[in-house]
Amino acid sequence: MTARILDGKALGLAIREEVAVDVAKLAAVGIKPGLAVVLVGEDPASQVYVRSKGRACEEAGMYSVTIRLPDTATQDELLATIDKLNADPAIHGMLVQLPLPKRMDSDKVLRRINPLKDVDGFHPENVGKLVTGDPTAFRPATPYGIQQMLIRSGIETNGAHAVIIGRSNIVGKPMANLLIQQGPGGNATVTVCHSRSKDLPSLTRQGDILIVAIGRAEFLTADMVRPGAVVIDVGINRVEDATREKGYRLCGDVEYEPVAAIASAITPVPGGVGPMTIAMLLKNTLQAAELTRAE
Ligand code: GUN
Repeated sequence: MTARILDGKALGLAIREEVAVDVAKLAAVGIKPGLAVVLVGEDPASQVYVRSKGRACEEAGMYSVTIRLPDTATQDELLATIDKLNADPAIHGMLVQLPLPKRMDSDKVLRRINPLKDVDGFHPENVGKLVTGDPTAFRPATPYGIQQMLIRSGIETNGAHAVIIGRSNIVGKPMANLLIQQGPGGNATVTVCHSRSKDLPSLTRQGDILIVAIGRAEFLTADMVRPGAVVIDVGINRVEDATREKGYRLCGDVEYEPVAAIASAITPVPGGVGPMTIAMLLKNTLQAAELTRAE
């Protein structure tokens, strides 16, 4: 079997176009959705992500502002920035790009964001809403994008066994919570594996849907995949490659070619999960702006 390639770029673009239509409708009632992205320091990968988020916002007709704090900024300065954005009526959604410098307390920072502007869905109030199935939760963009990709690609989650590798607050845990909810893109049986899981290949081979978010280049090999499984690769890793102009190439957490040869569907890296994440961030920003209309 050669896997169907799940084109996140095309799907993400379609969602962004849907968002742009709704943004135009809000414009008619005088609301322009605004997203603020806060970046501390100069991590090269974070800079690329932040730039893409800002650009996508503007392309959808939204207002976008990026606040860059130097690597030397204090946590109090970051908290003061969040307070200002919480109070700014032009800002409907905000996010603080992670990871933060190690000396900062990420939990404290994330709790400072007004939950109604928390378009990343990382505030405990939104995490709680997600777990209890409250539809007003902001859903973290990466797992939300994966769920949309499954739905829009006609991949059945109802009754399927989804095996997630990785238990982060950004991907693994919210992914599990989305997939076990009732409704479209839910009703799955979910196993969450992590670095302490015993006999990982025996677990991953049970998966009808495998979601790999472990942050290790080409970690999932073909022997870990049941033929016909759907494989979603969340990883984006830089590996040295002297044959490339930049000296590196990008690869996912899945050993692509051998796994694609036995899977029924697979996401490429780049062009798979990444563009879906950005699309869902815009969707969440729209959701945040719509809250202000209802007031
Ligand atoms: N770093 C990696 N993924 C994410 C994300 O979805 N949101 C934020 N804020 N930081 C990230």
